[in-house]
Amino acid sequence: MHSHHSALGLATALRPVQPVTLIRPHAARRAARFFVEKFPGTAMYAVKANPSPDLLKVLWDSGVTHYDVASIAEVRLLSETLPEARLCFMHPVKAEEAIAEAYFEHSVRTFSLDTMDELEKIVRATKGASDLNLCVRLRVSSDHSKLSLASKFGAEPGETKALLFAARQAADALGICFHVGSQAMTPAAYAEAMERVRAAIVEAAVTVDIVDVGGGFPSTYPGMEPPPLETYFEVIHKAFESLPISYSAELWCEPGRALCAEYASVLVRVEKRRGNELYINDGAYGALFDAAHVGWRFPVKLVREEISDAKDVAFSFYGPTCDDLDHMAGPFLLPADVAAGDYIEIGMLGAYGCAMRTGFNGFGSDMKVEMTDEPMATLYGGAEEQAVPSNVVTL
Ligand SMILES: Cc1ncc(COP(=O)(O)O)c(C=O)c1O
Repeated sequence: MHSHHSALGLATALRPVQPVTLIRPHAARRAARFFVEKFPGTAMYAVKANPSPDLLKVLWDSGVTHYDVASIAEVRLLSETLPEARLCFMHPVKAEEAIAEAYFEHSVRTFSLDTMDELEKIVRATKGASDLNLCVRLRVSSDHSKLSLASKFGAEPGETKALLFAARQAADALGICFHVGSQAMTPAAYAEAMERVRAAIVEAAVTVDIVDVGGGFPSTYPGMEPPPLETYFEVIHKAFESLPISYSAELWCEPGRALCAEYASVLVRVEKRRGNELYINDGAYGALFDAAHVGWRFPVKLVREEISDAKDVAFSFYGPTCDDLDHMAGPFLLPADVAAGDYIEIGMLGAYGCAMRTGFNGFGSDMKVEMTDEPMATLYGGAEEQAVPSNVVTL
């Protein structure tokens, strides 16, 4: 893989016609070390956020040993890429065949569930195994998060007592898990969810061995600057310590976004300008799904040899396909003189963005280049680290 110091060096040298994914392994390494060293328990990576084998190896080398997998394809990928990793199948609705393959062929022992039906399925598929870690997923509010995960999964208060009790009978280790929604903007999200955990444990009067606070840890984007991650860890630790569980109970979390958002950005080219609309060569069916469908704003930077002295104005983007839906409203602030042929770096696309690329309309791109400069924003720079890079923009 090529390596470059900056998007400008790359754009000047290659004049790429396709969008290029710029990966920054050092950024993923820094995020992983942060979670491994500071989260007061075990941080497992939610593979769906970005299943790139290159990234998986960086995380493993940085000390991430547990991986949250949600499909049998992710189980197989991890078995092949990181054969010693501990895999936890945390999708609450699984195919029975997937559970059987995960258990018998890939040594997966941890499964989540939110109904009696799923519990029975797991017991059947594993032929009544006695070494299961079963995590009952509670439905909690997504009120503090930018992307809700509150509707689809999770047992309601009236259902948890019987479910915890039944899972306790089938499990070697019993866990409780939840997800507060993605990009949780305040640690209060976790404090409130932990109150649900407390109520569930008290009501069911069962011994709980694992409390898994899920994903939701934020990254930083324009207009979405969260408090420091340490404050999340403090709130979670305090809530965990006060739960009615044994001193040997384990605390887990499942970050996706926070571990990989800074890992990748995308270099795109402007193919046409119409007023303040830029037609670029990546879009809703490429790495910009969230920009198109949930109005997510990503940081942008004009990549041009001569720095523009035009003032910044608001642009929206159209992607390359023939579809009106391939539209990213932004606003994306760029110098007023942006023109066809210019390159733009769109930052913070390492989580979900790159993972959701399709080849629709023939516009997929698999070109990747490793970068040594800093990501366009970071949640992991201490004061001293932030002073070093010149291209870290304050959002
Ligand atoms: C079960 C589970 N765990 C973890 C995650 C990762 O969430 P995030 O990227 O918000 O950290 C998700 C995301 O959908 C999930 O469904």
